[in-house]
Amino acid sequence: MKYSRADFPKGFTFGAATSAYQIEGHAQGGAGRTHWDDFAATPGNVVRMENGARACDHLNRFEEDLDLAAGMGLDAYRFSTSWARVMPEGRGTPNPEGLDFYDRLVDAMLARGLKPFATLYHWELPSALADLGGWRNRDIADWFAEYTRTIMGRIGDRVHAAAPINEPWCIAWLSHFLGQHAPGLRDIRAAARAMHHVLLAHGRATQVMRDLGMTNLGAITNHEYVLPADSTEAASKAATLYDGIYNRWFLSGIYSGSYPEDVLALLEQHLPAGWQDDMKTISQPVDWAGINYYTRKLVAPGPSGHPLDFAEGVGDLPQTTMGWEIYPEGLTRMIARVSQAYARNPGASIPIYVTENGMSAAGSLTAGAVEDPQRIAYLERHMEAVLRAIEEGADVRGYFIWSLLDNYEWALGYDKRFGLVHVDFDTLTRTPKASYHALKRALAG
Ligand code: FCB
Repeated sequence: MKYSRADFPKGFTFGAATSAYQIEGHAQGGAGRTHWDDFAATPGNVVRMENGARACDHLNRFEEDLDLAAGMGLDAYRFSTSWARVMPEGRGTPNPEGLDFYDRLVDAMLARGLKPFATLYHWELPSALADLGGWRNRDIADWFAEYTRTIMGRIGDRVHAAAPINEPWCIAWLSHFLGQHAPGLRDIRAAARAMHHVLLAHGRATQVMRDLGMTNLGAITNHEYVLPADSTEAASKAATLYDGIYNRWFLSGIYSGSYPEDVLALLEQHLPAGWQDDMKTISQPVDWAGINYYTRKLVAPGPSGHPLDFAEGVGDLPQTTMGWEIYPEGLTRMIARVSQAYARNPGASIPIYVTENGMSAAGSLTAGAVEDPQRIAYLERHMEAVLRAIEEGADVRGYFIWSLLDNYEWALGYDKRFGLVHVDFDTLTRTPKASYHALKRALAG
């Protein structure tokens, strides 16, 4: 690996990220049903109709997994708590086994010198709440606040940092407009409401955590670096609007307390009445900004001609097995944009963590080893992109690799392997890949 710890500012945090449903094994431990179980049980949504029932069986193997994280020399571990594991019905009586599990998990991190970075929602909405309209229902902000109080009342005294929501764009647009993730809706009104309610839930949960005395609270947004697919004016317009929906809506909501005019012009009619009154809650100060970044997107107008119909251009850069182009420059640029989005105090900079970055790559287990040179190169180039952003003045504090383990990659099932550690999904054997060993050397050096 071209870079080592010594190339980064003193105290820079290196971590790996995972999420509950993708690794734990949701069928065990008294967790309630989630909308991902329902989505996966509907033919056509998920490759081979796979779900997270067993996943990596992390629930029973978390000690081994944290040994691997600590053994790599990481400083931190980003995990998520599952709403349906903590509260099987989404509200009301908690599941004691679920609370105990996260309690032990956090202690196990601390025992290994790993700083716990918690995320409260990484996509597994309890089915009981989906039945009530899920993210379309404004009450979700209160339900989420109750869940936040329950789980953080138990582990909040020991987590190093916490963020309420993972990737609001995916929760809202990908899942309610594009229909590609649970609940699989293609409905503009549902999407617009989810775009607002997910941010309101972020705000309410942040209030609850402050009330519990917690500090070091952030927001985690995902970003694609958007470019027009060609030099036409139509492509440029489409790219601007796509960027508005993907990037600006959430950044502007959280960090400036307003929504971008161009997106609002199309979606305001679908927002709940009085949405303006929520903007203060949504934009209350946070202590850091988390950025998940994987790729760029080339955008052109879609076939119908409607402004919200986008077509994707085909770029000429090398791609990962997700079909995502590798474009590290986009990470530098997005870090700069997020720094600037924090306009509340002119001249002030917000601490930034790259909370997810990584690639899916083929790489099979041969004689006990997995060679993944593409991943090593990807990580090197993105570390370089982070260093460049720091040189340009951004206050980047940490870099988390997605992911520690090969895991359940949502609608793509178990085919796409993002892990630094290979998981054999039949035997559940863990095998550190070459990228794991390369990082271990880089972090020790
Ligand atoms: C992100 C998700 C994460 C994983 C990676 C590949 O959008 O947060 O769960 O699926 O993409």
